[in-house]
Amino acid sequence: MALRLGDIAPNFTAETNEGSIDFHQWLGTSWGVLFSHPKDYTPVCTTELGMVAKLKSEFDKRKTKVIAISVDPVDSHKGWIGDINETQSCTMNFPIIADPGKKVAGLYDMIHPNVDDTATVRSVFVIGPDKKIKLTLTYPASTGRNFAEILRVIDSLQLSAKHKVATPANWEPGQDCIISPAVKDEEIAALFPKGHRRVKPYLRYTPQPNQ
Ligand code: BEZ
Repeated sequence: MALRLGDIAPNFTAETNEGSIDFHQWLGTSWGVLFSHPKDYTPVCTTELGMVAKLKSEFDKRKTKVIAISVDPVDSHKGWIGDINETQSCTMNFPIIADPGKKVAGLYDMIHPNVDDTATVRSVFVIGPDKKIKLTLTYPASTGRNFAEILRVIDSLQLSAKHKVATPANWEPGQDCIISPAVKDEEIAALFPKGHRRVKPYLRYTPQPNQ
């Protein structure tokens, strides 16, 4: 069965270009992003990995570890990383899991046989420090992912993990947040000292609490 939000991210051991890992140990107490690539030496994946390498400091700021996975072996990853660095003007700075046996791809349901029965789709799993899955995304091989959006989602997830807020459509950090529907009107003043705006009984805004 497909993994759902709130499920524990399945643990596994795997080889990566940076050595072998136990996934949960590797995550430690950090947030994590696990994202799959159909295969090595493919053009869209090359641009995605270069982009994440260039955004690594943004993931670090959010105490979020990033790890990629592709069904090819470690030697292939190592050769491909040379091409990624050369063509994307970056230095790869996070591991790529080698999954030639498709063990991890199977655990995370990354192969969608009605599209392709050997390569993975572009899956994204954001995992919280409690090892629970907080977000899943599935893109086809032909569409490169928007990693600014993944950072934006992590900002929203981390905010709502600490404060009783949600974030509205197209929210960007610094903009007003929505007070959680579970918060009673009489609790608002204590929880949100920066003030609030009540548009409807169910639609109440407050400035971003942690800024
Ligand atoms: C790519 O990463 O460019 C790609 C991979 C598989 C199919 C199509 C594109």
